[in-house]
Amino acid sequence: MNSVTAVAPVITAANDALRRDFPSKPFAIRHKLVGHPLLTLPRIAALAAELPRDLIEYNSGKVAISQDPDAIPSVDLDPVEVVKSIETAGAWMVLKRIENSPEYRKLLEDTLLSVARARGFNSLLDAGFEQVEGFLFVSSPNSTTPFHLDSEDNFFVHIHGEKFFTILDNTDRSIVDDDEIERSMTKHRNLKYDESFAPRGKEFHLFEGDGCYVPYQWPHWVRTAGFYSISMAITWKTREVRRLNDLHFFNSMLRGIGLPQQPPGKRPVRDALKLAFYRGVTATIKPLRSSMAMRRVLRRVALGKRANYYLKGREL
Ligand SMILES: [Fe+2]
Repeated sequence: MNSVTAVAPVITAANDALRRDFPSKPFAIRHKLVGHPLLTLPRIAALAAELPRDLIEYNSGKVAISQDPDAIPSVDLDPVEVVKSIETAGAWMVLKRIENSPEYRKLLEDTLLSVARARGFNSLLDAGFEQVEGFLFVSSPNSTTPFHLDSEDNFFVHIHGEKFFTILDNTDRSIVDDDEIERSMTKHRNLKYDESFAPRGKEFHLFEGDGCYVPYQWPHWVRTAGFYSISMAITWKTREVRRLNDLHFFNSMLRGIGLPQQPPGKRPVRDALKLAFYRGVTATIKPLRSSMAMRRVLRRVALGKRANYYLKGREL
């Protein structure tokens, strides 16, 4: 390996967790992003005004850990108003794919580069930090993010307020099984939560400057305490994660036409054939995704009628 250029670390972890536990187990981190100009409410409100509407999702923060996706209460404000009044709006909001803004992309990449270097790599690519995406969360006091999972690895950095972030160990699939994982990825991310899961949870109590590493598809739920909160998910997808995700999506489409499939890994040869076919088809339709209206149609065709749940009632 070439010598690694030293940079001030933006993210640090105790007990050598960045080498010992990464990327297979969750662990606490500290970061230096508090006070960054891109992570203040006025700048986030400006971002909300710029983003396409289908990259903003928000609803009431008064939801259950085990929340029925069809019964999520809405908030009757526009996205910019939600950010500006977040102390009192009773809302939960996520701004998605913020890496499409060059300033935010630089912030995400610089942060991950410091982690890459701490792990002995000279570039994001060498460290496996591919397809970097960012998600900004703004929530009112006493809000809950229901139990769900995400199909990427994530350094979750907390910027303002107080938050409880609970991650469940699902390595043996006894909490969320393979079918539920597929459904969470392709239909609605919310999962059923039962109090009996609690002993397998690890709670990270986050204040400004804290955070945690969330491994691929480890289910979690989050609640804020008595202050409004700002957090950011810095995510990436390794080559292996992209392979697994493509297989899950294709399996879901096949299930939709009455052909349920084994989860990825059970039949490697068949996985390889499915992957080649799926990637051939998706490469053909990729140019269509530059239009928001076409993205909506494609989600509907690929994932079913609930795929656009967070746009309901909106004329786009
Ligand atoms: Fe999440």
